[in-house]
Amino acid sequence: MAPLKFIHLLSVLIWVGGMFFAYVVLRPAAVEILEPPLRLRLWDSVFRRFFAWVWFTVAALPISGLYMIHLYGGMAQVGRHVHFMLTLGLVMIAVYGHVFFSCYRKFSRHVAEQNWKEAGEMLGKIRKLIAVNLTLGLLTTGVAVIGKAL
Ligand code: HEM
Repeated sequence: MAPLKFIHLLSVLIWVGGMFFAYVVLRPAAVEILEPPLRLRLWDSVFRRFFAWVWFTVAALPISGLYMIHLYGGMAQVGRHVHFMLTLGLVMIAVYGHVFFSCYRKFSRHVAEQNWKEAGEMLGKIRKLIAVNLTLGLLTTGVAVIGKAL
């Protein structure tokens, strides 16, 4: 169980911590210092690297989580906090899938073609969806830890 929980928590740290850094720290710093074309290129490069890690976490979270549920004896044997976690985790993964397939790929294409206006609009959508997933990630972490303690 311990190695599974370690992989699970490592995935949470990478995904939620990465979103926190991108949204709370890098975004305002990039707006302050860089003009739009450079800023959009920076985000394209940041997302390419970050999303490769997010793919690892969106695979590792449900695999490690479902295996832990199996070791506990199935859904009927685990607390309500795990039911909430599974639901919220699946919503987060769906939002990420939308960010990657519907927004990021278009954003990256606009940056490559130097369509700065369209790229800026797409970045605005990605920003809002990352805010949604960051909120859900913090909420899920709270549910997991506090729910277990109750
Ligand atoms: C995607 C489906 C997910 C499943 C099936 C799942 C399942 C589980 C299970 C079975 C545990 C062990 C619970 C226990 O020992 O009482 C656990 C622990 C935990 N999970 Fe998840 N989880 C999922 C997603 C997430 C997400 C998205 C987050 C946060 C963003 C998260 C955060 C945590 C944390 C912080 C713990 C440690 C709780 C503790 O031991 O205090 N999980 N998860």
